[in-house]
Amino acid sequence: MNAYNDNLLKLVVMSDIHLLPNGEVKNELDTASRFIAAIENLNKFHSDADLVVFAGDIADKADLNAYVVFDEIREKNKSAQRVMMGNHDDRNVYLKHTNDPMIDENGFVQGYEDIKGHRIIMLDSSDPGLLRSGLCDQRLSWTANCLAKAKSLDLKIIILIHHNPCALQMPVDTYRLAEPEKLLNILHDSKADIIQILAGHCHISSAGSWGGYPCATISGNQHRVEPYLRGRTGQQSCFEAPAQYGVIMSDGNNCALHFQNYVEHSKIINPNFFPNKMNPKFEILD
Ligand SMILES: [Fe+2]
Ligand SMILES: [Fe+2]
Repeated sequence: MNAYNDNLLKLVVMSDIHLLPNGEVKNELDTASRFIAAIENLNKFHSDADLVVFAGDIADKADLNAYVVFDEIREKNKSAQRVMMGNHDDRNVYLKHTNDPMIDENGFVQGYEDIKGHRIIMLDSSDPGLLRSGLCDQRLSWTANCLAKAKSLDLKIIILIHHNPCALQMPVDTYRLAEPEKLLNILHDSKADIIQILAGHCHISSAGSWGGYPCATISGNQHRVEPYLRGRTGQQSCFEAPAQYGVIMSDGNNCALHFQNYVEHSKIINPNFFPNKMNPKFEILD
């Protein structure tokens, strides 16, 4: 149930969950306990979300047990949910396990939801076993049809995809979305009103544009990487925090993407310094 009005969409996107079989820890990070923290944070602050999307890299090693753990943890959130695939996933393993997959007519784990004047398109950029993968002709053609229908319905478009399509001028670009120009051409040709593209995969928060479209990334549930930009040498640092998910709020004209951290170590300043921030007022919606 949305607490605002009939136009304001709240869309939550979590990515790069990287769950391992029970109790296993990788690089000193327990991704299961972090994911529990994510769902608790979600339930505390965004139980009114219209849709929660898990944008790929659900299981670190694509094992069945990790998908079981995933379902056990996420069932504590009661919002509508959709699950996407990343390069760490194996859609065949996932599809064998899940009861209610999002699936297109060709067997790819992709789909769309129309909510409050928006079409949220969730693409399957995963090819099991490939770090860098893109959209095959079938998936591109599905995307073109989906955009054409959305345009005919005059919907605003939000596109979610696991692999970042936009070059960040970082080493991750060597395994970003393969052949990104193919997707970009389809987006341009559609002439649809694309207001936001959001990806995971690169484990860093970023904002910018791709071919003229607003394009951002979130850092996700596993480690975060530092901005290691073109020209640098030496070790790239990885950090325990923040673990983060994205919250998009859009009425069609105002589309804001917030980075909601749920694991972070920064110290909170004494709230007594900010008395005006107790129950602060919001802009009144029309
Ligand atoms: Fe990942
Ligand atoms: Fe990934």
